[in-house]
Amino acid sequence: MKILAIETSCDETAAAIIEDGCHIISNVVASQIPLHQKTGGVVPEVASRAHIEKIILVINEALLRPDRNPEHSGLIEVRSQSNIDAIAVTVGPGLIGSLLIGVNTAKALAWAWQKPLIPVNHLEAHLYANWLSSLVSRLSSVPTFPCLHLLVSGGHTMLIWQEDHGKLKVVGQTRDDAAGEAFDKTARLLGLPYPGGPELSKLAQKGNPKAYNFPRAMLNQNNFDFSFSGLKTSVRASLLDLSNLSNLSDLSASVEQAIVDALVEKSIRAVRQLKPKSFALSGGVSANRVLRETIKNEIGKIIGAQNIFIPPIEFCTDNAAMVGAAAAFYNPNAIDPKKVLAKSDLTL
Ligand code: KG4
Ligand code: ZN
Repeated sequence: MKILAIETSCDETAAAIIEDGCHIISNVVASQIPLHQKTGGVVPEVASRAHIEKIILVINEALLRPDRNPEHSGLIEVRSQSNIDAIAVTVGPGLIGSLLIGVNTAKALAWAWQKPLIPVNHLEAHLYANWLSSLVSRLSSVPTFPCLHLLVSGGHTMLIWQEDHGKLKVVGQTRDDAAGEAFDKTARLLGLPYPGGPELSKLAQKGNPKAYNFPRAMLNQNNFDFSFSGLKTSVRASLLDLSNLSNLSDLSASVEQAIVDALVEKSIRAVRQLKPKSFALSGGVSANRVLRETIKNEIGKIIGAQNIFIPPIEFCTDNAAMVGAAAAFYNPNAIDPKKVLAKSDLTL
């Protein structure tokens, strides 16, 4: 079973071909980062227009790229619509103009090629980055249920309890800013270019994470929720002291540590109370080195390192491979190609 997956929920135009749920045949991501650097953030209209320019090129590239599954090495495969069994597309949450480009392209292809269309939730797709693999040997090693997910992206921060495919419950979430937003907004205060998260993290490598004591909010509350908006205010206040400007590395390392501490502390509590069989990290912020290492060490101590799942960096930030995996494992709402053009509620 081969799925062509499409992702355009924010500022990456992406397409991938996924076989049997977790094997990546091809994965193409056209990033819009240079475009949004000029404005220091994503302008939705600019993002939508860039998706329009790139979407067909990216899908063609996904169809043409050499097969990266090592089991198929040496095989020359002619890939076309006749080899594709279904089309999956992100239908939300995301920027509405960006989503519309992916959804309408997917609808048009599903109708023209007469393939079923599988709508996929972007947050569920992030979780399924942990089921992806281009290596057959990893097949035996996918998260076992019940699994506790820490999903940390630019728009969301959630602890999600997963009993089975399709059985998900949010057990904790941010009350205000997402973890990625906290990275991006504090990075902007420090004058770093967009996207701030990876830039701040780079600077932090040379800094002292104990130099500044930034707030770890809500740790005294008996729940699994987060809050990051106070962090921004605290960073802004410390910047009023101009001598701090020379300590950008220390400031960055201290911000990074405050975010990681809050995420890890609530995750530890959730693991202790809910006792999952596995723990999985996902979303753009899971590319953060300090977060990856702390989760591996601290949660690993409680449930065993073999039960911790963290996607390769390539699949942390937005991509279509994770959309294909989500569609392969759970697709109760697949739409008949004959009815696809009549479906008007796909981006809700
Ligand atoms: O999942 P994602 O690609 O898009 C959304 O669905 O939001 O996440 C993007 C977020 C951005 O806030 C970005 O700054 C953050 O992930 N991010 C990082 C790192 N790489 C990406 N944050 C901290 N450290 C990183 N290395
Ligand atoms: Zn995302």
